[in-house]
Amino acid sequence: MADDYTIPQGWEGYSDEEHQTWDTLYERQVKLLPGKAEQSFLDGLKALDLGRGGIPNFETMSDELESLTGWRVVAVPGLVPDEVFFDHLANRRFPAGNFIRRADQLDYLQEPDVFHDVFGHVPMLTNPVFADYMQAYGKGGLRSLDSGCLKNLAALYWYTVEFGLVQTDDGLRIYGAGIVSSASESVFSLKDPSPHRLKFDLERVMRTDYRIDDFQQTYFVIDSYEDLFHATVDTDFGPIYDRLQGVDDKYPVDTILAEAEVVHRGSQDYARKGGRLAKP
Ligand code: PHE
Ligand code: CO
Repeated sequence: MADDYTIPQGWEGYSDEEHQTWDTLYERQVKLLPGKAEQSFLDGLKALDLGRGGIPNFETMSDELESLTGWRVVAVPGLVPDEVFFDHLANRRFPAGNFIRRADQLDYLQEPDVFHDVFGHVPMLTNPVFADYMQAYGKGGLRSLDSGCLKNLAALYWYTVEFGLVQTDDGLRIYGAGIVSSASESVFSLKDPSPHRLKFDLERVMRTDYRIDDFQQTYFVIDSYEDLFHATVDTDFGPIYDRLQGVDDKYPVDTILAEAEVVHRGSQDYARKGGRLAKP
């Protein structure tokens, strides 16, 4: 492994079964996502031809992606330290896990594998504004390392890059990688009456807890990638970090503040009944 945690993808080493797992997951999501995923995501999938069969080769894919927005995808063994992750993003490199889930884990996996990282994240990197947001996030992360507010910056990533929804002329759509790469959450996040859907509010999002073990209880809705870009890049986070010092209690995941702009007030039935682990 190199100092920046990158490793060779080892594309030649994938088994037929592993390529088949990609194809199965790919076909399932591609059927599900029209009318749910925002158009840049669908266009990105097509532009990079991620459905040509099997796990994509990072080199070939990166050459194509680089010609579009200057980003490349590098292989890492799994999660990497914060400063390494931020440094990759700040230099327009997206670190992706090179392993794929087992065939008996198609529906749920807590760790990001190559399907989540590539299918979920890489298509959005073909959108120039989103691509710039991701780089700005990395630079912001590097600046924030000593702020004591990493968890707040992580919440921003979580509720945008991973679980974001966007309002379009055709209705609410998904752009978050954690959603588009999940068959069940791509339906739940948009259609289920249970979760709250609230307009994006930067500081509120940065103060919100999140769950990594089940569907989100609240999704935040942006008006456009430009809006997200300006709300974050044009704001100096220094004063926010100052305000957040000593406020280490986060809003619980089902909070609706008095000033919230509510797109949908959720019933929270799914979570109340025990979520993923509820007995049928
Ligand atoms: N504007 C932020 C700062 O002052 C940096 C940032 C940009 C963070 C975009 C996240 C997303 O640190
Ligand atoms: Co992810």
